[in-house]
Amino acid sequence: MTTDSFYVTTPIYYVNSVPHLGTAYTTIAADALARYRRMRGEDVFFLTGLDEHGQKVAQAAEEAGVSPQNWCDGIAPRFLEAWDMLGISNDDFIRTTEERHKRGVQAFWQKLHDDGFLYQGHYEGWYCVPDETYWTEDQLEDGKCPTCGRDTEFIREDNWFFKLSEFGDRLLAYYDENPGFVQPETRRNEVVSFVESGLRDLSISRTNFSWGVPLPFAENHVTYVWIDALLNYITAVGYGDPDMAAEFDRRWPAQYHFVGKDIIRFHCVIWPAMLMAAGLPLPVTVFAHGFLLTKGEKMSKSKGNVMSPAELVERFGVDAYRYYFLRDVRFGEDGSVSLESMVQRYNGDLANDWGNLCSRLFNMTEKYADAVVPAPPGGVATDADETLRAIAGFLPEKYADAMERLDYGAALEAAWDLIKEANRYIEQEAPWNLAKDESGRDRLEAVLYNALEAVRIAALFCAPAMPNTSAEVWKRLGLEDIQSVTDVAESAEWGRLPQGSRVTKGESLFPRIYEDQ
Ligand code: MSP
Repeated sequence: MTTDSFYVTTPIYYVNSVPHLGTAYTTIAADALARYRRMRGEDVFFLTGLDEHGQKVAQAAEEAGVSPQNWCDGIAPRFLEAWDMLGISNDDFIRTTEERHKRGVQAFWQKLHDDGFLYQGHYEGWYCVPDETYWTEDQLEDGKCPTCGRDTEFIREDNWFFKLSEFGDRLLAYYDENPGFVQPETRRNEVVSFVESGLRDLSISRTNFSWGVPLPFAENHVTYVWIDALLNYITAVGYGDPDMAAEFDRRWPAQYHFVGKDIIRFHCVIWPAMLMAAGLPLPVTVFAHGFLLTKGEKMSKSKGNVMSPAELVERFGVDAYRYYFLRDVRFGEDGSVSLESMVQRYNGDLANDWGNLCSRLFNMTEKYADAVVPAPPGGVATDADETLRAIAGFLPEKYADAMERLDYGAALEAAWDLIKEANRYIEQEAPWNLAKDESGRDRLEAVLYNALEAVRIAALFCAPAMPNTSAEVWKRLGLEDIQSVTDVAESAEWGRLPQGSRVTKGESLFPRIYEDQ
């Protein structure tokens, strides 16, 4: 049974390119979800990795004058460094050139071969190397690849085929019975109409180059790279390894495959059909996000301000980077990103709202309460107190609902409702006035306690998106490591901030950024 396992994946990225905004986007989204689920005490397994085989990689290596393996070994650290820089908390990192993967792929083919799902045939058609995708003559647009517009090459070879065409009805029935399998809805419709239009058998092997996993029953054939890549989701959790059988049963199926909308057919048609053929359960949800668009914006290579993750992290910091993409682009839809809107979000949400709330409150705690959390208020709560508390009370559920829909924007907005209310509360209660004479003492302490408690709870729900600053806020509140939270609902209960906890001011969490900086 898989009940207490939460398995989430990103696509495995091609090693012909280094990490960029697009690949970082998928990875951060998966990371935020993985972090949130860990905070709920779930047994998370978060997988990412690299797609290292195929003609495109072989070509890149050849152009660089190195072996394909050397090429991959040279690029892999770039991804590891990038994910480290972006605070990605993956539990495993699979490379398709690893032995564990090859063994799994071969076991898979042997099974499908034994069970009669493969046959030898003749393939004639067009191949787009950059996309590693087969096309028929009539699918081409002006002789070019219909998705990327680049040249295709004509292939004529004897290949092994997978009987994909036999799975149309089963797939349609599956989509019907499992409406949550492909999300969002628009992608589901796209997939359904694609399958309804009829499936053709799929060529699963190539013989014109050797950079891939050989078919165990036909060693001169290497696995078509897309099929090789899809199998990573099961080989990483032990498919094909008898010693890992229990682990595989515990982890598979995955709860989520996160993918971009461009690779949905592979994940929602071919992959489930392959799993059905192998008698394996299907992933619960394939969620396709949209594209990040930078067109029409200031960012361009010629202007020298093209956005690379490293440059943006250097300028804004890792948490602001993560926050921006999760907050500003609706997950599942295309979204424009620009330096301008990033600066705006940063200054508005992070510097003004969140950073400022923390720094003024920690300052006031030092100034008016000897840097110690006062006692929780005992007297009658005012309307303002009640409002603040109510907003904090709604937050866990609102956040959970939004995360269930993978609506990161709404999840963060829910946290922001509390942050904004806390700022309003401080403005309205004006601790600086209460501090003017001793008669305001009790109220001053009550206000400080309530506002600090709101900050503690807000930090909790900011943590999946902004793990570093949330950890820092909890540290400044004198609390335990926020990463050790495994029951977020309980941690979010009002009043858990302990009296007497030592508060430290610290540096500004999000120093204001000026456009020309
Ligand atoms: N290797 C395959 C995936 C195999 S998974 C079994 C692949 N790799 S990729 O490196 O080209 O891209 C991976 C992901 O990055 C895709 O999900 C793609 O949608 C995403 N992005 C690439 N550019 C993007 C944007 N500009 N915006 C958002 N995501 C985009 O495909």
